[in-house]
Amino acid sequence: PLVSMTEMLNKALEGKYAVGQFNINNLEWTQAILSAAEAEKSPVILGVSEGAARHMSGFYTIVKMVEGLIHDLKITVPVAIHLDHGSSFDKCKEAIDAGFTSVMIDGSHHPIEENVEMTKKVVEYAHSKGVSVEAEVGTVGGQEDDVVGGIMYAKLEDCVAIAKTGIDTLAPALGSVHGPYKGEPNLGFKEMEEIRDAVKLPLVLHGGTGIPEHDIKKSISLGTSKINVNTENQLAFAKVVREVLAAKPDAYDPRTFIQPGREAIKETVIGKIREFGSSNKA
Ligand code: G3H
Ligand code: ZN
Repeated sequence: PLVSMTEMLNKALEGKYAVGQFNINNLEWTQAILSAAEAEKSPVILGVSEGAARHMSGFYTIVKMVEGLIHDLKITVPVAIHLDHGSSFDKCKEAIDAGFTSVMIDGSHHPIEENVEMTKKVVEYAHSKGVSVEAEVGTVGGQEDDVVGGIMYAKLEDCVAIAKTGIDTLAPALGSVHGPYKGEPNLGFKEMEEIRDAVKLPLVLHGGTGIPEHDIKKSISLGTSKINVNTENQLAFAKVVREVLAAKPDAYDPRTFIQPGREAIKETVIGKIREFGSSNKA
């Protein structure tokens, strides 16, 4: 069923595992991620960036597609539809009004006072509708759709200020990057621990693609309860589709090359769910 992230993340924090946010791009992405979560009996978060929402024609279409798949695929695990890196109150409201069960308001590119102000406004509206809210402090490096950043570590006092808005979960940027890493990531674990102790909220790790398993495990042990993965599924899909098309240059029925791509996403997501420890936690 469709739910907000609040309960799944609080349980994850308590049980020392993390719930994956997997970003969707289309029907096949959504099928693959929902089937993977169901196979693993894991809660799951479907991340939707503003760019992906434009690609899929809008928030309303996405909600109806997800509802349809939950019905047709007989999905029984908890599913959240979450706006990823929401850029403004208006975008968050639009997603909530279309039926999203969770939103991220990413005010990290604004001065902290403005970030707190916009986050507070989103929390008020979202919570009145039973929708959960994620906020970000500091900046994640790399690029994802419209979101471009140089790495900037979250400051403890900013985390404390934003936590007071009543958010359900916080993404403190601590060295992670959207897209592939150049070399090993350099995550601020000491800061992660301090932030967890100060805000007492489940934390989010963005840029999950390419983070080695030992860093994932350490992050979870320090209060990270949600890990976002996007690029890894894109790489898995593109690799397989490229191989199939190269092997069968005359193929034109889209299903013959999209289905193997969908299977690759499902396998990738199952691997992540196991790594994050959320199997059998639905
Ligand atoms: O918000 C989504 C992510 O943080 C995904 O990052 O593409 O590096 O896995 P990634
Ligand atoms: Zn992100």
